[in-house]
Amino acid sequence: MMKPLAQLIREIPKAELHCHIEGTLEPELMFELAQKNNIQLPYATPQDVRKAYHFTDLQSFLDIYYQAASVLCTEQDFYDLTWAYLLKAKVDNVCHTEIFFDPQTHTARGIPFAVIVNGITHALTDAKQKLNITSHLIMCFLRHLSEEAAFDTLNQGLPYKDKIIAVGLDSGERGNPPEKFKNVFQEAIKHGFLTVAHAGEEGPAENIWNSLRLLKAKRIEHGVHCTMDPSLIAYLKEHQIPLTVCPLSNVKLRVIDELKNHNLKTLLRQGLCITLNSDDAAYFGGYVVDNFLASAEQLNLNAEDIVQLAKNSIQASFIDETLKATYLRMISMVAQKFL
Ligand code: ADE
Ligand code: ZN
Repeated sequence: MMKPLAQLIREIPKAELHCHIEGTLEPELMFELAQKNNIQLPYATPQDVRKAYHFTDLQSFLDIYYQAASVLCTEQDFYDLTWAYLLKAKVDNVCHTEIFFDPQTHTARGIPFAVIVNGITHALTDAKQKLNITSHLIMCFLRHLSEEAAFDTLNQGLPYKDKIIAVGLDSGERGNPPEKFKNVFQEAIKHGFLTVAHAGEEGPAENIWNSLRLLKAKRIEHGVHCTMDPSLIAYLKEHQIPLTVCPLSNVKLRVIDELKNHNLKTLLRQGLCITLNSDDAAYFGGYVVDNFLASAEQLNLNAEDIVQLAKNSIQASFIDETLKATYLRMISMVAQKFL
């Protein structure tokens, strides 16, 4: 790759909109926390953990991922996890991040909701002051669990409404379509939450349609299977519904065979609001800049594509118009050195 393109990728201000905070748990921190909290891991070293990261599909990853999250016990643990991610985001020139967390992964182990939210938001507040990174927090419901369990989680989240901007839907898509969560999303909207949903990652285009129609999703996570339905592509373009695409994740979880065959470039050049994100960086081989670099290399993205992806990330975010304008100006200032 031409050096200036890599430099543009690193320097350009960008928002990250699809990052599961539990997915940023690096093996070294996993071991540190396991030791501190007296939790037995089925691995001897962080290197052994990394060696185990060979996934055949989404579920094979989730099995390891939920188990690893059990090392997170105290407010300080959630702070340390989030802070470690934010330091990496700073290096990648992430100016704004909207992170997911999965309350049910932790409350099921007896960790109070307050411990999770307070640890994460404390780090996010520090990031604003010390790193100049703005943020929002999105609470996801685990779709392999029941809608009743999601209702329970929503109720636990209500006292933290000022700290949580949206609700989302993640975990195994197969067999757990969006319609299963129609009522709880309706209720969340009544309480003023925005909504997003993972859809079209392993599931069909129909899941994207139903996330838009029934869950009123403002963004679709992944959405790569929209290509199965030309009328959906037209709709996503017309309404500029953002897709938070995660290229390295898609390769690792075998959603696509090789990055050079990813549809993100075609969709971007067709005018869809495509954004690039890391999903679960510690598991999939890289943070947001790594996703940009790999995509640029494998798909021959040019400087205009990179600038458009950065602008899309700001447009697709849940920040107000004034802050959007500020970030877009920052992008243009960096872009003019390269275009
Ligand atoms: N939870 C963490 N990563 C996920 C992904 N890629 N899809 C669905 N749920 C997830
Ligand atoms: Zn995800």
